[in-house]
Amino acid sequence: MSQLNATIADPASVDAAIENRFCVRAFLRDKPVPRQMLERLLELASRAPSGTNMQPWKVYVLEGAARDALCAKVCQAHDSVLQHPELETRYRADYDYYPRQWVDPYLARRRQNGWSLYGLLGIAKGDKDKMHQQQQRNFQWFDAPVGLMFTVDRVMGSGSLLDYGMFLQNLMVAARAHGLHTCPQAAWNGYASIVLPHIGATAEEMLVTSIALGYADETAPVNTFHTPREPVASFTHWVK
Ligand SMILES: Cc1cc2nc3c(=O)[nH]c(=O)nc-3n(C[C@H](O)[C@H](O)[C@H](O)COP(=O)(O)O)c2cc1C
Repeated sequence: MSQLNATIADPASVDAAIENRFCVRAFLRDKPVPRQMLERLLELASRAPSGTNMQPWKVYVLEGAARDALCAKVCQAHDSVLQHPELETRYRADYDYYPRQWVDPYLARRRQNGWSLYGLLGIAKGDKDKMHQQQQRNFQWFDAPVGLMFTVDRVMGSGSLLDYGMFLQNLMVAARAHGLHTCPQAAWNGYASIVLPHIGATAEEMLVTSIALGYADETAPVNTFHTPREPVASFTHWVK
């Protein structure tokens, strides 16, 4: 059957894979993801559309020793910034993921998100050590056995980041369909100067983001954190 005639026999499953994707922040460290499964997920992700079919994605898969070594390097750098804040300028992301100037409603949503997560974890406002420890969990991929790094050639336009988003969402939704969970992580971006040489990326590539991938720890309280969405009417204009 051609793609044109294919009917999606079970649309509820597609909806469910989308609706049940959320950020898992505690994974089962010792439950590996089979290589075949990883390849299948990446194949599905690559069905994403991209301008003139440029397919700008470049994926680096880290497991085992390569994974652990990068975690150790970045955790150490992150700790050093806590002790010597002047070092922060040494670590810069390749592009602005967040706005330079925070305005509402985005600022309010960001705060609500952050404080809800920290509240669930028992982290009080101003408890810098605990906040640091939680941030540090990012650089352990929340114990996920698979850490994915995504780069794009610096020569590409900002539209390629749009294409990339579609690739990443495909990957995360497909992961749910196969019983896996994910957490996209821009936290790594600031440490591109450590990440890129470690993964063997060339100087022509920039770090787009990272994703933690694995099986969720169903006993971890952090994985009960679910985020709200604005209703369709609040972001949709029916133009007359
Ligand atoms: C590109 C991207 C980068 C993100 N970076 C981080 C991160 O570094 N650490 C983290 O804990 N969550 C990160 N998040 C997760 C968001 O906070 C999360 O997607 C949002 O709060 C909505 O929640 P949900 O994904 O559980 O639905 C990121 C999400 C995206 C899309």
